[in-house]
Amino acid sequence: MKTFYIETFGCQMNAHDSEKVIGTLVSEGYTQVPTPDAAELVFYNTCSIRDKAEQKVFHRLDQFKRDGKGKTFAVLGCVAQQEGAKIFEKAPHVSMVCGSASYNQLPQMLVQLEAGNRRVTGLNLDTEDTFETPLTRRNNPHRAYITIIEGCDKACAYCVVPFTRGPERSRTSESVLSEARQLADMGYSEIQLLGQNVNSYRDPSPAGWDFAQILDAVGRVAGIRRVRFTTSHPRDFVKPIVDAIDSNPALCNHVHLPVQSGSTRVLEAMQRLYTREQYLERIAWMKAARRPIAITSDIIVGFPGETEADFEATLGLLDEVEYDAIFGFKYSRRPNTPALALGDQIPEEEKSRRLAIAQERQRQIQIRRNAGYVGAVEECLVEGFNKATGQWIGRTTQHKTLNFLHAAAGGDDLTGKYVAVRVTRAGPNSLVGEWVG
Ligand code: SAH
Ligand code: SF4
Ligand code: F3S
Repeated sequence: MKTFYIETFGCQMNAHDSEKVIGTLVSEGYTQVPTPDAAELVFYNTCSIRDKAEQKVFHRLDQFKRDGKGKTFAVLGCVAQQEGAKIFEKAPHVSMVCGSASYNQLPQMLVQLEAGNRRVTGLNLDTEDTFETPLTRRNNPHRAYITIIEGCDKACAYCVVPFTRGPERSRTSESVLSEARQLADMGYSEIQLLGQNVNSYRDPSPAGWDFAQILDAVGRVAGIRRVRFTTSHPRDFVKPIVDAIDSNPALCNHVHLPVQSGSTRVLEAMQRLYTREQYLERIAWMKAARRPIAITSDIIVGFPGETEADFEATLGLLDEVEYDAIFGFKYSRRPNTPALALGDQIPEEEKSRRLAIAQERQRQIQIRRNAGYVGAVEECLVEGFNKATGQWIGRTTQHKTLNFLHAAAGGDDLTGKYVAVRVTRAGPNSLVGEWVG
Protein backbone atom coordinates (compact mmCIF):
# COMPACT_ATOMS: atom_id res chain seq x y z
CA MET A 1 0.00 0.00 0.00
CA LYS A 2 1.50 3.33 -1.02
CA THR A 3 0.18 6.07 1.26
CA PHE A 4 0.64 9.83 1.14
CA TYR A 5 -0.20 12.87 3.22
CA ILE A 6 -0.29 16.40 1.83
CA GLU A 7 -0.45 19.74 3.61
CA THR A 8 -1.01 22.94 1.63
CA PHE A 9 0.04 26.48 2.50
CA GLY A 10 -0.58 29.73 0.63
CA CYS A 11 -3.08 31.01 -1.91
CA GLN A 12 -6.00 29.42 -3.78
CA MET A 13 -3.70 28.60 -6.68
CA ASN A 14 -1.71 26.41 -4.34
CA ALA A 15 -4.88 24.88 -2.91
CA HIS A 16 -6.02 24.00 -6.41
CA ASP A 17 -2.58 22.74 -7.45
CA SER A 18 -2.80 20.34 -4.51
CA GLU A 19 -6.15 19.08 -5.80
CA LYS A 20 -4.45 18.31 -9.11
CA VAL A 21 -1.42 16.74 -7.40
CA ILE A 22 -3.71 14.53 -5.30
CA GLY A 23 -5.55 13.40 -8.44
CA THR A 24 -2.24 12.59 -10.08
CA LEU A 25 -0.99 10.62 -7.06
CA VAL A 26 -4.23 8.66 -6.75
CA SER A 27 -4.09 7.72 -10.43
CA GLU A 28 -0.55 6.44 -9.81
CA GLY A 29 -1.90 4.03 -7.18
CA TYR A 30 -1.27 6.08 -4.02
CA THR A 31 -3.83 6.46 -1.23
CA GLN A 32 -4.28 9.70 0.69
CA VAL A 33 -4.21 9.46 4.50
CA PRO A 34 -5.23 12.16 7.00
CA THR A 35 -2.04 12.38 9.09
CA PRO A 36 1.67 12.44 8.30
CA ASP A 37 2.22 9.65 10.84
CA ALA A 38 0.18 7.23 8.76
CA ALA A 39 1.91 8.16 5.49
CA GLU A 40 4.91 6.77 3.65
CA LEU A 41 5.14 9.86 1.46
CA VAL A 42 4.72 13.31 3.04
CA PHE A 43 4.14 16.29 0.72
CA TYR A 44 4.25 19.94 1.70
CA ASN A 45 2.90 22.33 -0.92
CA THR A 46 4.56 25.53 0.18
CA CYS A 47 4.17 29.31 0.02
CA SER A 48 6.94 31.87 0.02
CA ILE A 49 5.01 35.12 -0.21
CA ARG A 50 6.23 36.39 3.19
CA ASP A 51 9.03 35.14 5.40
CA LYS A 52 6.61 33.69 7.96
CA ALA A 53 4.94 31.58 5.29
CA GLU A 54 8.29 30.21 4.15
CA GLN A 55 9.37 29.30 7.70
CA LYS A 56 6.28 27.11 8.19
CA VAL A 57 7.58 24.31 5.99
CA PHE A 58 10.94 24.27 7.75
CA HIS A 59 9.18 24.00 11.12
CA ARG A 60 7.19 21.05 9.81
CA LEU A 61 10.28 19.37 8.40
CA ASP A 62 12.21 19.95 11.66
CA GLN A 63 9.58 17.95 13.53
CA PHE A 64 10.56 14.92 11.46
CA LYS A 65 14.32 15.37 11.58
CA ARG A 66 14.70 12.48 13.99
CA ASP A 67 11.53 10.42 13.83
CA GLY A 68 10.88 10.66 10.09
CA LYS A 69 12.70 7.41 9.34
CA GLY A 70 11.06 5.24 6.74
CA LYS A 71 9.14 8.20 5.32
CA THR A 72 9.84 10.06 2.12
CA PHE A 73 9.48 13.86 2.23
CA ALA A 74 8.65 16.05 -0.76
CA VAL A 75 8.60 19.85 -0.88
CA LEU A 76 6.38 21.30 -3.61
CA GLY A 77 5.28 24.80 -4.56
CA CYS A 78 6.83 28.21 -4.20
CA VAL A 79 9.51 27.49 -1.55
CA ALA A 80 10.60 24.48 -3.62
CA GLN A 81 11.04 26.61 -6.72
CA GLN A 82 12.74 29.42 -4.82
CA GLU A 83 15.21 27.37 -2.76
CA GLY A 84 15.73 24.46 -5.16
CA ALA A 85 18.38 21.91 -4.17
CA LYS A 86 19.37 24.10 -1.18
CA ILE A 87 16.43 22.45 0.58
CA PHE A 88 18.37 19.15 0.64
CA GLU A 89 21.09 20.90 2.68
CA LYS A 90 18.68 22.53 5.12
CA ALA A 91 16.60 19.37 5.50
CA PRO A 92 18.60 16.29 4.43
CA HIS A 93 15.62 13.99 4.97
CA VAL A 94 13.82 15.60 1.99
CA SER A 95 13.94 13.53 -1.21
CA MET A 96 11.91 15.56 -3.69
CA VAL A 97 11.86 19.28 -4.48
CA CYS A 98 9.43 20.29 -7.20
CA GLY A 99 8.03 23.67 -8.29
CA SER A 100 4.56 24.17 -9.73
CA ALA A 101 5.78 24.47 -13.32
CA SER A 102 7.08 20.87 -13.14
CA TYR A 103 4.03 19.05 -11.77
CA ASN A 104 3.49 17.45 -15.18
CA GLN A 105 6.65 15.49 -14.36
CA LEU A 106 5.35 14.13 -11.04
CA PRO A 107 4.59 10.59 -12.31
CA GLN A 108 8.17 10.16 -13.62
CA MET A 109 9.57 11.66 -10.41
CA LEU A 110 7.56 9.18 -8.33
CA VAL A 111 9.02 6.32 -10.36
CA GLN A 112 12.51 7.62 -9.61
CA LEU A 113 11.71 7.80 -5.88
CA GLU A 114 10.33 4.24 -5.92
CA ALA A 115 13.55 3.12 -7.61
CA GLY A 116 15.38 4.35 -4.52
CA ASN A 117 16.62 7.69 -5.85
CA ARG A 118 17.07 9.98 -2.81
CA ARG A 119 17.37 13.33 -4.61
CA VAL A 120 14.74 14.11 -7.20
CA THR A 121 14.11 17.64 -8.48
CA GLY A 122 11.66 19.35 -10.84
CA LEU A 123 12.73 22.97 -11.10
CA ASN A 124 12.42 23.88 -14.75
CA LEU A 125 10.64 27.23 -15.10
CA ASP A 126 11.03 27.93 -18.81
CA THR A 127 8.06 25.91 -19.84
CA GLU A 128 5.18 26.79 -22.11
CA ASP A 129 3.04 24.15 -20.41
CA THR A 130 0.19 24.56 -17.99
CA PHE A 131 -0.65 21.84 -15.48
CA GLU A 132 -3.89 20.38 -16.80
CA THR A 133 -5.13 17.02 -15.67
CA PRO A 134 -8.49 15.29 -15.93
CA LEU A 135 -7.66 13.65 -12.59
CA THR A 136 -8.16 16.66 -10.29
CA ARG A 137 -9.62 15.63 -6.91
CA ARG A 138 -11.70 18.62 -5.84
CA ASN A 139 -12.48 18.67 -2.15
CA ASN A 140 -15.65 20.77 -2.30
CA PRO A 141 -18.62 19.26 -4.17
CA HIS A 142 -20.29 22.59 -5.01
CA ARG A 143 -17.57 25.16 -5.64
CA ALA A 144 -14.72 24.41 -8.03
CA TYR A 145 -11.51 26.18 -8.92
CA ILE A 146 -10.31 26.39 -12.51
CA THR A 147 -6.82 27.74 -13.24
CA ILE A 148 -6.99 29.87 -16.40
CA ILE A 149 -3.50 31.40 -16.31
CA GLU A 150 -0.32 30.40 -14.51
CA GLY A 151 2.71 32.52 -13.64
CA CYS A 152 3.10 36.30 -13.59
CA ASP A 153 4.80 38.73 -15.97
CA LYS A 154 4.65 41.71 -13.62
CA ALA A 155 7.67 42.68 -11.55
CA CYS A 156 6.30 44.16 -8.35
CA ALA A 157 9.39 45.08 -6.38
CA TYR A 158 8.43 43.14 -3.23
CA CYS A 159 7.07 39.95 -4.80
CA VAL A 160 8.51 36.45 -5.21
CA VAL A 161 5.77 35.10 -7.48
CA PRO A 162 7.46 35.84 -10.83
CA PHE A 163 10.43 33.84 -9.53
CA THR A 164 8.44 30.99 -8.01
CA ARG A 165 5.83 30.55 -10.72
CA GLY A 166 7.58 31.77 -13.81
CA PRO A 167 6.20 33.60 -16.84
CA GLU A 168 2.51 33.82 -17.73
CA ARG A 169 0.93 30.89 -19.58
CA SER A 170 -2.79 30.96 -20.41
CA ARG A 171 -4.93 27.91 -21.16
CA THR A 172 -7.01 27.79 -24.31
CA SER A 173 -10.55 29.07 -23.95
CA GLU A 174 -11.80 25.71 -25.23
CA SER A 175 -10.07 23.74 -22.47
CA VAL A 176 -11.33 26.17 -19.81
CA LEU A 177 -14.89 25.98 -21.16
CA SER A 178 -14.92 22.22 -21.50
CA GLU A 179 -13.73 21.91 -17.89
CA ALA A 180 -16.49 24.31 -16.80
CA ARG A 181 -19.11 22.28 -18.73
CA GLN A 182 -17.87 19.04 -17.18
CA LEU A 183 -18.04 20.56 -13.71
CA ALA A 184 -21.60 21.75 -14.34
CA ASP A 185 -22.51 18.20 -15.44
CA MET A 186 -21.02 16.88 -12.21
CA GLY A 187 -23.30 19.18 -10.21
CA TYR A 188 -20.97 22.08 -9.44
CA SER A 189 -22.77 25.41 -9.43
CA GLU A 190 -19.97 27.83 -8.51
CA ILE A 191 -16.71 28.29 -10.35
CA GLN A 192 -13.75 30.36 -9.30
CA LEU A 193 -11.32 31.29 -12.07
CA LEU A 194 -7.76 31.44 -10.82
CA GLY A 195 -4.54 33.16 -11.80
CA GLN A 196 -1.99 35.43 -10.13
CA ASN A 197 -3.18 38.00 -12.62
CA VAL A 198 -6.39 36.76 -14.24
CA ASN A 199 -6.84 40.07 -16.05
CA SER A 200 -3.89 39.38 -18.33
CA TYR A 201 -5.49 36.13 -19.54
CA ARG A 202 -4.98 35.78 -23.28
CA ASP A 203 -6.43 32.79 -25.08
CA PRO A 204 -3.53 31.16 -27.00
CA SER A 205 -5.93 29.64 -29.56
CA PRO A 206 -6.99 31.56 -32.71
CA ALA A 207 -10.12 32.82 -30.92
CA GLY A 208 -7.74 35.05 -28.90
CA TRP A 209 -10.20 35.83 -26.13
CA ASP A 210 -9.32 38.25 -23.37
CA PHE A 211 -10.31 37.89 -19.73
CA ALA A 212 -13.69 39.63 -20.00
CA GLN A 213 -14.66 37.24 -22.81
CA ILE A 214 -13.70 34.02 -21.00
CA LEU A 215 -15.34 35.30 -17.82
CA ASP A 216 -18.60 36.02 -19.64
CA ALA A 217 -18.51 32.65 -21.45
CA VAL A 218 -17.98 30.65 -18.25
CA GLY A 219 -20.91 32.57 -16.75
CA ARG A 220 -23.08 31.32 -19.64
CA VAL A 221 -22.35 27.63 -19.10
CA ALA A 222 -25.68 25.95 -18.31
CA GLY A 223 -25.88 24.97 -14.64
CA ILE A 224 -23.24 27.44 -13.44
CA ARG A 225 -24.94 29.94 -11.12
CA ARG A 226 -21.93 31.76 -9.75
CA VAL A 227 -18.55 32.70 -11.17
CA ARG A 228 -15.80 34.38 -9.16
CA PHE A 229 -12.24 35.24 -10.13
CA THR A 230 -9.01 36.06 -8.39
CA THR A 231 -6.64 37.92 -8.51
CA SER A 232 -7.06 41.09 -10.51
CA HIS A 233 -4.21 43.48 -11.22
CA PRO A 234 -5.38 47.12 -11.48
CA ARG A 235 -3.17 47.83 -14.50
CA ASP A 236 -4.93 45.12 -16.55
CA PHE A 237 -8.40 45.60 -15.05
CA VAL A 238 -10.39 47.05 -17.92
CA LYS A 239 -13.92 48.43 -18.20
CA PRO A 240 -15.28 45.44 -20.21
CA ILE A 241 -14.84 43.29 -17.05
CA VAL A 242 -17.25 45.57 -15.20
CA ASP A 243 -19.61 45.57 -18.20
CA ALA A 244 -19.57 41.75 -18.21
CA ILE A 245 -20.49 41.66 -14.51
CA ASP A 246 -23.24 44.19 -15.13
CA SER A 247 -24.80 42.18 -17.94
CA ASN A 248 -24.29 38.57 -16.85
CA PRO A 249 -26.17 37.61 -13.65
CA ALA A 250 -24.01 34.50 -13.06
CA LEU A 251 -20.94 36.67 -12.48
CA CYS A 252 -20.69 37.45 -8.77
CA ASN A 253 -20.95 40.97 -7.38
CA HIS A 254 -17.42 40.94 -6.06
CA VAL A 255 -14.02 42.10 -7.29
CA HIS A 256 -10.76 41.69 -5.37
CA LEU A 257 -8.56 44.50 -6.67
CA PRO A 258 -5.39 44.77 -4.56
CA VAL A 259 -4.14 48.36 -4.30
CA GLN A 260 -1.10 47.75 -2.02
CA SER A 261 -0.66 51.47 -1.25
CA GLY A 262 -2.61 54.71 -1.53
CA SER A 263 0.51 56.73 -2.29
CA THR A 264 1.52 57.14 -5.93
CA ARG A 265 5.13 57.61 -4.81
CA VAL A 266 5.12 54.22 -3.05
CA LEU A 267 3.22 52.57 -5.91
CA GLU A 268 5.98 53.71 -8.21
CA ALA A 269 8.67 52.33 -5.91
CA MET A 270 6.69 49.08 -5.81
CA GLN A 271 6.63 49.05 -9.65
CA ARG A 272 2.88 48.56 -9.60
CA LEU A 273 2.40 50.38 -12.94
CA TYR A 274 -0.55 52.55 -11.87
CA THR A 275 -1.13 55.73 -9.89
CA ARG A 276 -3.58 56.33 -7.08
CA GLU A 277 -5.77 58.23 -9.55
CA GLN A 278 -5.77 55.42 -12.11
CA TYR A 279 -6.69 52.96 -9.38
CA LEU A 280 -9.56 55.18 -8.23
CA GLU A 281 -10.80 55.41 -11.81
CA ARG A 282 -11.28 51.61 -11.79
CA ILE A 283 -13.10 51.86 -8.48
CA ALA A 284 -15.36 54.51 -10.04
CA TRP A 285 -16.31 52.10 -12.90
CA MET A 286 -17.42 49.56 -10.33
CA LYS A 287 -19.32 52.08 -8.23
CA ALA A 288 -21.13 53.27 -11.37
CA ALA A 289 -22.26 49.71 -12.22
CA ARG A 290 -25.95 48.85 -12.00
CA ARG A 291 -25.15 45.96 -9.67
CA PRO A 292 -23.73 46.59 -6.18
CA ILE A 293 -20.21 45.24 -6.62
CA ALA A 294 -18.37 44.46 -3.37
CA ILE A 295 -14.74 45.51 -3.56
CA THR A 296 -11.91 44.00 -1.52
CA SER A 297 -8.19 44.68 -1.51
CA ASP A 298 -4.73 43.88 -0.20
CA ILE A 299 -2.47 46.50 1.32
CA ILE A 300 1.18 46.37 2.33
CA VAL A 301 2.37 48.71 5.09
CA GLY A 302 5.99 49.63 5.75
CA PHE A 303 7.38 49.24 2.23
CA PRO A 304 10.93 50.68 2.27
CA GLY A 305 10.77 54.47 2.35
CA GLU A 306 7.05 54.64 3.23
CA THR A 307 6.68 57.92 5.12
CA GLU A 308 3.96 58.86 7.56
CA ALA A 309 2.40 60.93 4.76
CA ASP A 310 2.43 57.91 2.39
CA PHE A 311 0.79 55.81 5.06
CA GLU A 312 -1.83 58.52 5.62
CA ALA A 313 -2.53 58.38 1.88
CA THR A 314 -3.32 54.67 2.25
CA LEU A 315 -5.67 55.40 5.16
CA GLY A 316 -7.33 58.12 3.11
CA LEU A 317 -7.82 55.67 0.26
CA LEU A 318 -9.50 53.18 2.60
CA ASP A 319 -11.96 55.94 3.56
CA GLU A 320 -12.52 56.94 -0.04
CA VAL A 321 -13.10 53.45 -1.48
CA GLU A 322 -14.89 52.01 1.55
CA TYR A 323 -13.82 48.45 0.87
CA ASP A 324 -15.94 45.52 1.97
CA ALA A 325 -12.80 43.85 3.33
CA ILE A 326 -9.03 44.13 3.08
CA PHE A 327 -6.08 41.87 3.78
CA GLY A 328 -3.31 43.92 5.35
CA PHE A 329 0.32 42.82 5.44
CA LYS A 330 3.56 44.11 6.89
CA TYR A 331 6.19 44.36 4.17
CA SER A 332 8.46 41.31 4.29
CA ARG A 333 11.87 41.27 2.57
CA ARG A 334 11.98 38.44 0.06
CA PRO A 335 14.83 36.71 -1.78
CA ASN A 336 15.59 37.74 -5.38
CA THR A 337 13.18 40.69 -5.32
CA PRO A 338 14.22 44.18 -6.50
CA ALA A 339 13.07 45.79 -3.22
CA LEU A 340 15.88 43.99 -1.37
CA ALA A 341 18.26 46.63 -2.70
CA LEU A 342 16.22 49.54 -1.33
CA GLY A 343 17.47 51.39 1.71
CA ASP A 344 15.28 52.98 4.33
CA GLN A 345 13.71 49.89 5.81
CA ILE A 346 10.86 50.58 8.22
CA PRO A 347 11.37 49.13 11.72
CA GLU A 348 9.24 46.11 12.60
CA GLU A 349 7.43 47.91 15.47
CA GLU A 350 6.53 50.77 13.17
CA LYS A 351 5.11 48.34 10.59
CA SER A 352 3.04 46.71 13.33
CA ARG A 353 1.77 50.09 14.46
CA ARG A 354 0.72 51.08 10.93
CA LEU A 355 -0.93 47.74 10.29
CA ALA A 356 -2.96 47.96 13.50
CA ILE A 357 -4.11 51.49 12.62
CA ALA A 358 -5.11 50.48 9.08
CA GLN A 359 -6.98 47.42 10.30
CA GLU A 360 -8.88 49.40 12.93
CA ARG A 361 -9.79 52.06 10.34
CA GLN A 362 -11.06 49.35 8.01
CA ARG A 363 -12.99 47.64 10.82
CA GLN A 364 -14.98 50.80 11.38
CA ILE A 365 -15.71 51.02 7.65
CA GLN A 366 -16.93 47.42 7.61
CA ILE A 367 -19.18 47.97 10.63
CA ARG A 368 -20.77 50.90 8.79
CA ARG A 369 -21.05 49.16 5.44
CA ASN A 370 -22.38 45.88 6.78
CA ALA A 371 -25.01 47.69 8.87
CA GLY A 372 -26.49 48.82 5.55
CA TYR A 373 -27.47 45.21 4.77
CA VAL A 374 -29.79 44.80 7.76
CA GLY A 375 -33.29 44.15 6.43
CA ALA A 376 -32.10 43.08 2.97
CA VAL A 377 -32.83 39.62 1.54
CA GLU A 378 -29.72 38.00 0.11
CA GLU A 379 -29.27 34.81 -1.88
CA CYS A 380 -26.74 32.50 -0.18
CA LEU A 381 -24.92 29.40 -1.25
CA VAL A 382 -24.94 27.27 1.90
CA GLU A 383 -21.46 26.10 2.87
CA GLY A 384 -22.21 24.09 5.99
CA PHE A 385 -23.68 23.97 9.48
CA ASN A 386 -22.01 25.33 12.61
CA LYS A 387 -22.93 23.00 15.47
CA ALA A 388 -21.55 25.38 18.11
CA THR A 389 -23.90 28.22 17.14
CA GLY A 390 -26.75 26.18 15.59
CA GLN A 391 -26.47 28.36 12.49
CA TRP A 392 -26.03 27.56 8.82
CA ILE A 393 -23.12 29.24 7.09
CA GLY A 394 -23.99 30.94 3.81
CA ARG A 395 -22.05 33.01 1.30
CA THR A 396 -23.63 35.91 -0.58
CA THR A 397 -22.78 36.84 -4.17
CA GLN A 398 -20.68 39.63 -2.66
CA HIS A 399 -18.64 36.95 -0.85
CA LYS A 400 -19.92 37.98 2.57
CA THR A 401 -20.46 35.33 5.22
CA LEU A 402 -24.14 35.24 6.23
CA ASN A 403 -24.90 32.92 9.16
CA PHE A 404 -28.56 32.06 9.52
CA LEU A 405 -31.09 30.10 11.49
CA HIS A 406 -33.36 27.55 9.87
CA ALA A 407 -35.96 25.30 11.46
CA ALA A 408 -34.13 22.27 10.06
CA ALA A 409 -31.21 22.80 12.48
CA GLY A 410 -28.81 20.25 11.08
CA GLY A 411 -31.75 18.05 9.98
CA ASP A 412 -32.17 18.42 6.21
CA ASP A 413 -28.83 19.12 4.75
CA LEU A 414 -28.92 22.54 3.10
CA THR A 415 -25.25 22.40 2.13
CA GLY A 416 -24.76 23.28 -1.52
CA LYS A 417 -28.26 24.75 -1.85
CA TYR A 418 -29.16 28.34 -2.72
CA VAL A 419 -31.47 29.92 -0.18
CA ALA A 420 -32.90 33.36 0.51
CA VAL A 421 -31.95 34.87 3.87
CA ARG A 422 -33.12 38.09 5.50
CA VAL A 423 -30.26 39.93 7.23
CA THR A 424 -31.14 40.75 10.85
CA ARG A 425 -27.78 41.76 12.33
CA ALA A 426 -24.38 42.84 11.07
CA GLY A 427 -20.87 42.75 12.48
CA PRO A 428 -17.59 43.90 10.97
CA ASN A 429 -16.79 40.50 9.43
CA SER A 430 -20.10 38.77 8.89
CA LEU A 431 -23.87 39.08 8.72
CA VAL A 432 -26.54 37.18 10.65
CA GLY A 433 -30.02 36.42 9.34
CA GLU A 434 -33.08 34.23 9.05
CA TRP A 435 -34.03 31.82 6.30
CA VAL A 436 -36.96 33.10 4.25
CA GLY A 437 -37.16 30.63 1.37
N1 SAH B 1 -1.15 38.45 -7.77
C1 SAH B 1 -1.72 39.15 -6.70
C2 SAH B 1 -0.99 39.04 -5.40
C3 SAH B 1 -0.60 37.74 -4.89
S1 SAH B 1 0.23 37.80 -3.37
C4 SAH B 1 -1.73 40.62 -7.02
O1 SAH B 1 -0.96 41.10 -7.81
O2 SAH B 1 -2.51 41.30 -6.41
C5 SAH B 1 -1.06 38.29 -2.27
C6 SAH B 1 -0.73 39.54 -1.51
O3 SAH B 1 0.38 39.33 -0.68
C7 SAH B 1 -0.35 40.73 -2.34
O4 SAH B 1 -1.44 41.38 -2.87
C8 SAH B 1 0.40 41.59 -1.37
O5 SAH B 1 -0.46 42.45 -0.68
C9 SAH B 1 0.98 40.58 -0.39
N2 SAH B 1 2.43 40.46 -0.53
C10 SAH B 1 3.10 40.00 -1.60
N3 SAH B 1 4.43 40.08 -1.37
C11 SAH B 1 4.59 40.60 -0.14
C12 SAH B 1 5.73 40.95 0.66
N4 SAH B 1 6.96 40.77 0.23
N5 SAH B 1 5.50 41.46 1.89
C13 SAH B 1 4.23 41.67 2.35
N6 SAH B 1 3.14 41.36 1.63
C14 SAH B 1 3.31 40.84 0.39
FE1 SF4 C 1 3.33 39.49 -7.36
FE2 SF4 C 1 2.81 41.74 -8.61
FE3 SF4 C 1 2.66 39.40 -9.93
FE4 SF4 C 1 0.85 40.02 -8.06
S1 SF4 C 1 1.19 41.10 -10.01
S2 SF4 C 1 1.90 38.08 -8.31
S3 SF4 C 1 2.03 41.14 -6.57
S4 SF4 C 1 4.51 40.36 -9.11
FE1 F3S D 1 2.31 31.83 -1.86
FE2 F3S D 1 3.13 30.95 -4.15
FE3 F3S D 1 0.60 31.54 -3.80
S1 F3S D 1 4.20 32.35 -2.87
S2 F3S D 1 0.69 33.18 -2.32
S3 F3S D 1 1.69 29.94 -2.78
S4 F3S D 1 1.79 31.83 -5.64
